[in-house]
Amino acid sequence: MADVNTLEQEILGAVSMAPDEATLETVRVAALGKSGSISALLKTLGTLTPDERKAQGPLINGLKDRVTAALTTRKSALGDAALDARLASETVDVTLPVREAPTEAGRIHPISQVIDELTAIFADMGFAIAEGPDVETDDLNFTKLNFPEGHPAREMHDTFFFNPKPDGSRLLLRTHTSPVQVRTMLSQKPPIRVICPGRTYRCDSDQTHTPMFHQVEGLVIDKGSHIGHLKWILAEFCKAFFEVDDVKMRFRPSFFPFTEPSLEVDIQCKRDKGEIRFGEGTDWLEILGCGMVHPNVLRNCGIDPNEYQGFAWGMGIDRIAMLKYGMADLRAFFEADVRWLSHYGFRTLDLPTLAGGLSA
Ligand code: DAH
Repeated sequence: MADVNTLEQEILGAVSMAPDEATLETVRVAALGKSGSISALLKTLGTLTPDERKAQGPLINGLKDRVTAALTTRKSALGDAALDARLASETVDVTLPVREAPTEAGRIHPISQVIDELTAIFADMGFAIAEGPDVETDDLNFTKLNFPEGHPAREMHDTFFFNPKPDGSRLLLRTHTSPVQVRTMLSQKPPIRVICPGRTYRCDSDQTHTPMFHQVEGLVIDKGSHIGHLKWILAEFCKAFFEVDDVKMRFRPSFFPFTEPSLEVDIQCKRDKGEIRFGEGTDWLEILGCGMVHPNVLRNCGIDPNEYQGFAWGMGIDRIAMLKYGMADLRAFFEADVRWLSHYGFRTLDLPTLAGGLSA
């Protein structure tokens, strides 16, 4: 049967030439598919006489078996080759360093973290955030806060002044966040409950002082606000911030021009081999200044001291950050050393919340 032989040569040739599995499949369909050439031959068997069928049957079925076997062999050879090619092109060099995703590698500076922490604590008590500019007027930084012209208390702040303007007035870099109290009282009506975190500046530099540092101011003005409220707020803050169940506080008389009476607050701590722990021990550590807002300040801000009273406090953010996270030198905060930041910094997505833990 010349045509069966020719057909076999043709099909086997196509099988061995097929460069990939898709072409091979086309060859298979053309031979063995429903209307393939071998299927067509098989169909002719039914039309033959019994003798012819006896002769043709084995020929055509033999053809079919050999083509099927050739297809299977070629298919597995092509599959192996495709796998080898993929393995060669997709090799991974496991000796290369693995680079962390930016969200993993980046760090939040401890100051930003502590500002977020204290914002979470005071927001929970119903405080709003107030802000003011770093460049201030003498009037808002000093005069309205009851620092009279020439008063020695002005000298206690090592102020950075700008050059005088033609009218003699001088702008300055705010020496504390207290001018934000004044701005808030001038622009809002009581009741007022705000905290004012921000940058402050004084001409000073050593292990625990830097020319730029951070403070957070608190201010409450209402008809019946008194020192008992202040003590409760500060105690709640210290417990939440230092993450302890109880903390003893000591109030000492002090002087600030803008408060009367003025107090300084120490908190209980335990100093142990250079380490400080809060909520235990018999040592004391000063953490903030506070007092009842001076009637002159209320008056300077258009609030009637016969109707309203209130209290305020001011605290160094860098200082409480150093205490909480055990950092010895304040200057490192501002050196922008990425090694320091990767050690002391916080993971970007670990936002402090009261429910989820502040520094967890
Ligand atoms: N402004 C003060 C300072 O920088 C801190 C301070 C003390 C703020 C008492 C207050 C306060 O609001 O009542 O030294």
